Amino acid sequence: MKYKCADRGSLRCPCVLMEAGQCYACAMAREGKCDCSEDWQGVCPYNEYLQNGKRAAEGGLSAELPAKIIKVTKYSEQLSVVRLGVTKGFSRRCSRPGSFITAEALGCRVPLSVLQEGWDKDENTVRGWIETALQPAGPKTKELLKVREGKIWHIAGPFETGLAGRAALDRLTESFCAANEIITESPGESPSRGKFLVVARGTAIAPFINIKDRLKSMPDTEIMADDEKLSRVFLEKYMGGTKYETVSLAHDEEKILSAMDGARTIMLLVSPYYVERFLRLRPERKDDIIIPNHANMCCGAGVCGACSYTDKDGVTVRRCKCIL
Ligand code: FES
Repeated sequence: MKYKCADRGSLRCPCVLMEAGQCYACAMAREGKCDCSEDWQGVCPYNEYLQNGKRAAEGGLSAELPAKIIKVTKYSEQLSVVRLGVTKGFSRRCSRPGSFITAEALGCRVPLSVLQEGWDKDENTVRGWIETALQPAGPKTKELLKVREGKIWHIAGPFETGLAGRAALDRLTESFCAANEIITESPGESPSRGKFLVVARGTAIAPFINIKDRLKSMPDTEIMADDEKLSRVFLEKYMGGTKYETVSLAHDEEKILSAMDGARTIMLLVSPYYVERFLRLRPERKDDIIIPNHANMCCGAGVCGACSYTDKDGVTVRRCKCIL
């Protein structure tokens, strides 16, 4: 299978994978022979690499940035939201679907989905901010939550590969601009096939909240939230006026499967256990499903190998770099 790189042509390209001869986007780096078609009009990563003295681009490792903690809001023992000060440019880049950052804790990096981004303006200054939701699940997240307001997190990013399911995600992204397209492009189908379904549990709901305002105009959206690890106050605040139904993934499986059967695009923002379970029960829907992609990520930059994945052809890729 041929993979696309999320960073191709960006300021992070070429990266350390080019230096190692493992660039997914460049056969020239891997095999010494270019396989781009003659009508390719984009940036050539190999040319950039040569022009850069055969080195990865500055910032290719997504150099760490100090980000001041503006506010920590504790919604429950299981859930806190941290607001970080960043530049306005950084916060704008975090508005893309699947945006996440990594934060340093105990010498490791923790991937954290962006929950919300924005900026504040006073007379002279514009200050960007992002928010991320944390569950104190293990030593790293507990360590991050020890740091209080006014202190610094060392973050990297933003990265854009926090969601997998490219075909479904592209359809969803197109729908930002053409809300009705989904239900009119298949005139033979029942209108319910245009439904967009979100099933979410815990802090995995963050990527949806980050883009939900742009989905407001979607004509037929159904949201099912398992609030076991989310407080009601949190949902009221971050869902705004968006209607949702409370479900239990453990006890309402038939109901969720039935909703999946009636939906065209499904955002399944749940733990890897439930992703695997629902995909096993509805394997024919795998191309319609968008799922979280950063459960195993660490550096986010293709270096540490924590997110390595080997496909059925024996090709090993880094999920943090690939558009899957
Ligand atoms: S997270 Fe380190 S290589 Fe992907």
